[in-house]
Formats: sequence, C-alpha cells, structure tokens
Amino acid sequence: MVYVTEQTLTDVVRKRWSDIPDPRLQQVMQALVKHLHAFVREIEPSQAEWATAIDFLTRTGKLCDDKRQEFILLSDVLGVSMLVDAINHRRSSQATPSTVEGPFHVPGAPPMANGANMAANAPGIPCFCIGKVHGVGGEPIVGAALDLWQTDGEGFYEAQRPGIDGVWMRGLYRTQGDGSYLIRTVAPIAYTIPMDGTIGELMNRTNMSHMRPAHIHFALDAPGYHGLVTHLFQAGDKWIQNDAVYGVKEPLIVEFKKLPAGSKAPSGEIMNEPFYVVNYDFVLERKAQAAAA
Ligand code: BEZ
Ligand code: FE
Repeated sequence: MVYVTEQTLTDVVRKRWSDIPDPRLQQVMQALVKHLHAFVREIEPSQAEWATAIDFLTRTGKLCDDKRQEFILLSDVLGVSMLVDAINHRRSSQATPSTVEGPFHVPGAPPMANGANMAANAPGIPCFCIGKVHGVGGEPIVGAALDLWQTDGEGFYEAQRPGIDGVWMRGLYRTQGDGSYLIRTVAPIAYTIPMDGTIGELMNRTNMSHMRPAHIHFALDAPGYHGLVTHLFQAGDKWIQNDAVYGVKEPLIVEFKKLPAGSKAPSGEIMNEPFYVVNYDFVLERKAQAAAA
C-alpha cells in the first residue's frame, strides 16, 4: 500500500478503482477518477467553493421528479446531451441529422389524419408542414410515423400551458402512399429554458442566452429504418446561432414561408389570414440487414 500524498493520490485512487469485474464499469470509473482529479487539480477549489459545488448539485437533485429533470437541463446547457446524441446517432451524411429530444415529449400522441390540425384551439399563426419521408437511396417510405410536439404561438408546451387538461400541440401523423405528409399546426415561437431552478441561477451569472430558437420537434419511426428524433428550426430566428442547448444543426434550419390572406394553403383551402408553409423532406437511413430482421 502506498500512503497518499498530493502527488500520489490520483494513482492510489485509480488503482483501488481498478478492482471491478465488469470491464465497462472499470473503464468508466478509471476515466472518471482521472478526469475529475485533473479538473480539481486545475481548479484548486477552496473548501468553501467545494461546499458551494456540493450544495449546487444537491439542490439540482432536489428539483428532479417525474415532471422536472434539472440534471438533464444541466447536461443540455453544458452541451453533453448533444454530444451523447451525436455519438449515438452517427449516420450517413445524406440522412437528416438528429438533435436533442428535450423534456417536453409526451408519449402517446393522438393519431391525426393527413392534413388534420393538431393546433385546433391554439393561439398562433397557422402553419402547414409539407414534404416527404424517404430513404438515403431516394425510396419513398410509406406509413412512416411522424410524432410532433411544439409550443403554441404564445410559447407554451402542453406541460406549461395553464388550465390544459389533455392533449395540446402534439399529434401523430403517417406518410401517404408516395411518402408525403401534410401537417397543420400553428407556428412555434422562441422560448426560454426553465430559469427558476439551479440552472437558471448559473445562467444568470453568465452573459449567455437562455433562449431556444423557434422549432417544431419530430420523432420519426419506420420499420427497417433507424428512428430519428429531431427538430425543424425557423430560419432567421433571433437565437438561431446561440441556442441555449446547442441543438441547431445547419440542415435543420428551414424557411417558414409566409403567405398573405387569400392565398391557397397546401390543404387546398383559401386562407382568410396569413399563414406559413414549411417544406421539408426527411431522410432516414436503413438499418443493416441483420439488425433489421
Ligand atoms: C426543448 O426543446 O424544448 C428543450 C430542450 C432542452 C432543454 C429545454 C428545452
Ligand atoms: Fe422544444
């Protein structure tokens, strides 16, 4: 046994944490001790600073329950959620890229007919999303599921809208025989990440933006293809270049084309108010043959 000094401590701890039968856990703990000790050696915290850090993490944990996850928000604002997403979704450069799921997805969206309005009673500017879902090889994907969720035109998700007891701003659509889809909704707006917890406290001590640019969330699923969780972002949004959670990837920025009252919508109806049209083709990558079986 080597007794510890400031110099030998990291090696002593790493040696002790090498005695782990599970090789993956051993690898994780070795890297954790190595990088955590290097971080502490670089920062050289005072005892008071270390107590502040422990208090921050304790209060972050206490804010987590089945409705709120402050630790995921911490991972989001540090860019870790996007890094984990990138590592786990390495796809063909022709496939539509993924981005973070975020905390507002509610499983079990109501099935909607092609062209149905998932924002029937919601405030906001009408918005039609049209396009196709196809494979990297160009083949149309028939019956692909598109699960959508977003804010209404005042920036509220279902979980945030006061007085909502039921479905709000979400729907499950399917592609038609030619791989096309038609969704009617209202345009989302930019909104702030939750700022009333420990992450807000931290962000308020920086000059960084806590806004997310306007976006619509999509989760696509089709047999034989890799699923895709992504967003479409509104081109020109004020916060497009500094999304608080680093979710924006260039191929996901889309023009929300605004048409005046009296124009014909993709649904065929003449609209009596201005509206947006978002035209986007999603590209999915096939699973390897053996994995698909
Ligand atoms: C969102 O997309 O809604 C979101 C993602 C990460 C953190 C907060 C919100
Ligand atoms: Fe969102």
